Amino acid sequence: MLQQIKTILLKWYSQNQRELPWRTTKDPYFIWLSEIILQQTRVQQGLSYYQLFTEKFPTIFDLANADEQTVLNTWQGLGYYSRARNLHATSRIIVHQYKGVFPSSFEEIKSLKGIGNYTAAAISSFAFDLPYAVVDGNVYRVLSRVFDEDSPIDSSAGQKLFQNLANNLLNTSFPANHNQAIMEFGALQCVPVNPNCDICVLNQHCLGRQNNRINVLPVKEKKTKVSKVQIDYSIHFDENKILLRKRLGKGIWQHLYEFPHCIDMPKDPPVFSETHLLSHQKLTLNYYRNVNNTIAFEENGLEWVNIKDLESYPKPKPIQSFIDNYLDELNSEN
Ligand code: ADE
Repeated sequence: MLQQIKTILLKWYSQNQRELPWRTTKDPYFIWLSEIILQQTRVQQGLSYYQLFTEKFPTIFDLANADEQTVLNTWQGLGYYSRARNLHATSRIIVHQYKGVFPSSFEEIKSLKGIGNYTAAAISSFAFDLPYAVVDGNVYRVLSRVFDEDSPIDSSAGQKLFQNLANNLLNTSFPANHNQAIMEFGALQCVPVNPNCDICVLNQHCLGRQNNRINVLPVKEKKTKVSKVQIDYSIHFDENKILLRKRLGKGIWQHLYEFPHCIDMPKDPPVFSETHLLSHQKLTLNYYRNVNNTIAFEENGLEWVNIKDLESYPKPKPIQSFIDNYLDELNSEN
């Protein structure tokens, strides 16, 4: 049965795979870049970021030599900025400790900052043809359905169990193509909602389908807790300059630029309000004008920035869209 499933997957992949630039290279640097980007976004958007990164930083030396602000700026819009900081830090480690040669063993790769089991298995198999099975969201879905396995994918017992299943299913003669195949199968055929099982090449082998449980698999144990957070910003202009604040603390948006925070809730209505959803926080962002009582006035991290230079400062998505949509209008009221 396992033998049949892996043969069907490989054949399906040879007929249905999308042409993607990171699939035609064996260069571990490019593969690593693509995998980190794809942890953060879907293939369609990932393509343009991949292009951006490989053009701006064509070798690992270019990435290591860049300053952090340039790397964050290139990452802007993808969210979860610690991935970009880790990418940068790891490029420097590879340049300094490995003379720029990407390590080629699973253990060494996994020891790098920002690289866990999934990414280490992806790089090991795609770049070095090593027999390590990847388990990402797509793979959890395919395996839970084909084997009708309802261990929660967010429990450590479940994760162990699915890693073992994936290891057993791995086609050790073709680890790279096998891993691409099962992920692609999850992305294109075994989709999260309403998969078309009638045309599925695995439908005769799929226990989840036989037991009519496709729509409840995979199972998650916990609901993500989302807390509500409010931030009150104060916008200050001085001629052609605007006051920015670099986030230096831990937590969201580390090292990105925003505006100074108000200490007390201002009495005036905000000039603009919006909500922005992160994975664990629902943010309400209020924008005020010229509030003198701001936290950041007493902190480091404040900077008067020429409005025409704003582009080179990495910013969170909602701040960027506020700037794009409202800044001209506000500044012309000055
Ligand atoms: N998602 C994560 N890795 C991927 C890859 N190599 N190809 C397509 N989608 C992916």
